[in-house]
Amino acid sequence: MKLTVNGTEHEVDVEDDMPLLWVLRDELGLTGTKYGCGIAQCGACTVHMDGLAVRSCQVAAATADGAEITTIEGLGTPAALHAVQDAWIKHQVAQCGYCQSGQIMQAASLLDLNPEPTDEDIDIVMGGNLCRCGTYPRIRAAVHDAATKLKEA
Ligand code: FES
Ligand code: FES
Repeated sequence: MKLTVNGTEHEVDVEDDMPLLWVLRDELGLTGTKYGCGIAQCGACTVHMDGLAVRSCQVAAATADGAEITTIEGLGTPAALHAVQDAWIKHQVAQCGYCQSGQIMQAASLLDLNPEPTDEDIDIVMGGNLCRCGTYPRIRAAVHDAATKLKEA
């Protein structure tokens, strides 16, 4: 099957039901996307599929056939960070960091769908991505900051 990841087309020979998470990590070597629970509960594996945030542990490879996938490795570049990545650094959001690629992908998707989220909007959406280090107050501040930057851009 074929999938486009971070702008590059890949042909992968995997079982139809292999989770997209393992296609990304094991077949394509994109280990920025993390495994947390494997049952759609934590959000550590969040990527964008055709522009929408999905939990890649629950997307079968066959479902991703022909799709455009963006992972944390393709959201921005070191020279041109995505506004969310920039805000994450500014607010020093990460603690242990394990959940953070999923958090950033979820936050970028939130801002695509809702460019001016309220505190409540952020808490509802981002609260679904588990962070055992409790970075939610900084996530909220960083999302507001990224929203302002994207509005000015
Ligand atoms: S690993 Fe996919 S939601 Fe937890
Ligand atoms: S930063 Fe440690 S789990 Fe979120």
